[in-house]
Amino acid sequence: MTTVRSYSKINLGLRIGPPRPDGYHHLATIYQTIGLFDLMTVTAERAPETSITLRCDHPGVPCDARNTAFKAVEMALKALQISAKVDIFIDKKLPVQGGIGAGSANAAAAILALEAELGEQLSPSARLHLAGKVGSDVPMFLVGGTMLGIERGEETFPLPDLPSFYAVLAFPGVGVSTPQAFRDWDAGLPENPENDTLMEFRRRVAIAFAGQPGVSGPAGDLAEEPLLALVRTGLENDFETVVFPQQPSLRAFKSALEEGSLYAALSGSGSSLFGLYRSEDEAKAASDRITALGCEARITSTLPRSVYWATMFV
Ligand code: C5P
Repeated sequence: MTTVRSYSKINLGLRIGPPRPDGYHHLATIYQTIGLFDLMTVTAERAPETSITLRCDHPGVPCDARNTAFKAVEMALKALQISAKVDIFIDKKLPVQGGIGAGSANAAAAILALEAELGEQLSPSARLHLAGKVGSDVPMFLVGGTMLGIERGEETFPLPDLPSFYAVLAFPGVGVSTPQAFRDWDAGLPENPENDTLMEFRRRVAIAFAGQPGVSGPAGDLAEEPLLALVRTGLENDFETVVFPQQPSLRAFKSALEEGSLYAALSGSGSSLFGLYRSEDEAKAASDRITALGCEARITSTLPRSVYWATMFV
């Protein structure tokens, strides 16, 4: 039996680019893992034929092949050329369709737990490739920390970790369909959308992180504060444009998170929002403001890559 923390993520800015011929969208984002997690327990033993069962204590989570963790285990067994009897239990603590990648994280965690159970590993490139086929946000959970995500989001590059900030998550209790949010974005697009905004986003990321350990370049005052450098140049989540008009209360939650924060925004296509803070007191105050508005709030922190990996297996 292997139990893993299936940590979640936030997006520090997200730019949507033009639709692609395959129905996905080009995008650019910074992913950041955070300390909130679902607990997943996987048991697996070799068997003449593969059978997978999935259980979850949340009624909104499908327990069949529609579940990303189910899909990931099925694909991983095929790739490993192993047949096995696998049971997956998801102790769901995070919102479903919440924009913090919980379902995608479940898939990545399931692959890692399955490998541990069977004592077999996919190569890192095979694992990343498989993760990208399960979902655009799955590969980032095989990297962790602060990351740049491009293409459909599945091309993930580790960035020098941002320092660990206090984070407050607001969970408004409504699910947002990501495909629908992309369709709504398309509906408001000009005839020929440009790719320039994505290039601009990537350029800003490169400049903000220049001078960080492991990155050669002139170390200026931006060196210690890549997040602030990014925020100064405008770090927006394009999904706010389509999601806020449909869920006007989210604007008020964002304002409540913004006070005293380094940065606050919608995460992914929402409906979760987050604020980042230097001090616990600021985080506590933001959490109280969110609660006073009748919305669920959780205080956590951003997870650097080393902590993400060191604390994943329970
Ligand atoms: O990759 P994933 O299965 O998470 O994506 C879910 C849906 O979101 C896709 O089927 C697509 O409609 C939309 N999507 C998109 N562009 C992306 C990522 C997702 O249009 N970059």
